[in-house]
Amino acid sequence: MRNNNIKPANGKLGVMCIGLGAVATTTIIGTFMARKGLARPIGSFACEGVMRLGKDREKCYKEVKDIIPLAGLDDVVFGAWDIYDDNAYDAAIKANVLKKEDIEPVKDELCAIRPYKALFDKSYASNIDGPNVKTGGNRWELTEQLREDIRCFKAEHGCERVIVIWIASTEKFISRNDKVHGNIVSLEAAMKADDTTNIAPSMCYAYAAMREGCPFVMGAPNLCIDIPAMRELAEKTRIPIMGKDLKSGQTMMKTVLAPALFTRQLGVRGWFSTNILGNRDGVVLDNPENFETKRASKTSALDNILDSTVYPGLYGDMYHKVCINYYPPRGDEKESWDNIDIFGWMGYPMTIKVNFLCRDSILAAPLVLDLILLGDLSLRAGEYGIQDFLSFYFKVPDHKDGDKPIHDLFKQFAMLKNKIRLLAGYEADQELD
Ligand SMILES: NC(=O)c1ccc[n+]([C@@H]2O[C@H](COP(=O)([O-])OP(=O)(O)OC[C@H]3O[C@@H](n4cnc5c(N)ncnc54)[C@H](O)[C@@H]3O)[C@@H](O)[C@H]2O)c1
Repeated sequence: MRNNNIKPANGKLGVMCIGLGAVATTTIIGTFMARKGLARPIGSFACEGVMRLGKDREKCYKEVKDIIPLAGLDDVVFGAWDIYDDNAYDAAIKANVLKKEDIEPVKDELCAIRPYKALFDKSYASNIDGPNVKTGGNRWELTEQLREDIRCFKAEHGCERVIVIWIASTEKFISRNDKVHGNIVSLEAAMKADDTTNIAPSMCYAYAAMREGCPFVMGAPNLCIDIPAMRELAEKTRIPIMGKDLKSGQTMMKTVLAPALFTRQLGVRGWFSTNILGNRDGVVLDNPENFETKRASKTSALDNILDSTVYPGLYGDMYHKVCINYYPPRGDEKESWDNIDIFGWMGYPMTIKVNFLCRDSILAAPLVLDLILLGDLSLRAGEYGIQDFLSFYFKVPDHKDGDKPIHDLFKQFAMLKNKIRLLAGYEADQELD
């Protein structure tokens, strides 16, 4: 490792998961199993990735964890908030993602994770309800309770640092309102006035995290940090923020296929995407107000990659539709179909079909672990505000004002590796290997 200005990853890294459902428990179990040597964290670039450093004669390949100082899995401590009071073991059994034999070896560690009471507003996720919910206060006072939870968790587990990640249910769609979301002062005033229309629960968690010095990751498509007030807060508190909506399955495939079509200058008349899934995420998304938040996130990538301002004749009339259907028999084993109507030489039509039989939480867990380790790295490296090098992990890559977001998976991967090179004291390069 070259000299760099990154603080060492000493001591315990606390990870507070907002939501202790399928994705959270799958991530936690995989991490515990990996540190016992009982499973491999496949899909985690931070844990198992290898990348090139240097050029020509200096060229060499190294494991990511040998290039930059990441927290070790043995030093990670998990906590959570959830509206249900199940411990992580019971929550994992109910989520029904992993086989019991893959959970039992870490049962004791899981039973010790009991969720704090959630800041929950049923009007933001009306298809679920639970008893483990904070009461007795307006948005501001409840946020103070979240801050207290973070301080307690940190003290109880002797954590040096804490990172907070939203992997709770998708909230209903709300629009940005600059009178409220425009700056920190107006945001805080709305929290104190208990403006429940404009202040979503996720915003309270993000606010609490930043005020307590914790990086914040938004794993769902909620508006949350995508407002000027949160960006201002991240700059002021010098905290890294990133998000939103993990790019795990169908959108990951879209951001691989669409650049191929664009590069070959093949036209697209229509792209129809549909899914079936039967987990609790599916229950929440069965409500049109919550689905709208997801729909907006799932549709943004194609318009960006298949840029009709560059090729109006190829993409100007493209019709893009995304559907999600709740279908209980499938549980977490989501299936997605894409029908892509394209055209080529002399306008002749062709069709591409993609049928991805995936497992939602199995795809999401390595992304969550990477965001935890790389978000913590950003903090120790003194980076703050929007971490656009982590675009690789999100359906809606956050980007600095004035920049165009990058959706193409391989461009995002190059951004990620180049940032790692820079943080480690190497030069960024053109990524032509
Ligand atoms: N699995 C994937 O591939 C994937 C990809 C992108 C995004 N996501 C998003 O990740 C999130 C989690 O997915 P999941 O499958 O684990 O869902 P899940 O329903 O199994 O778990 C979510 C948990 O969040 C809890 N919750 C809801 N509101 C809360 C609040 N205000 N505070 C604390 N807890 C709250 C719920 O009780 C539930 O236990 C969803 O928003 C989903 O859309 C998942």
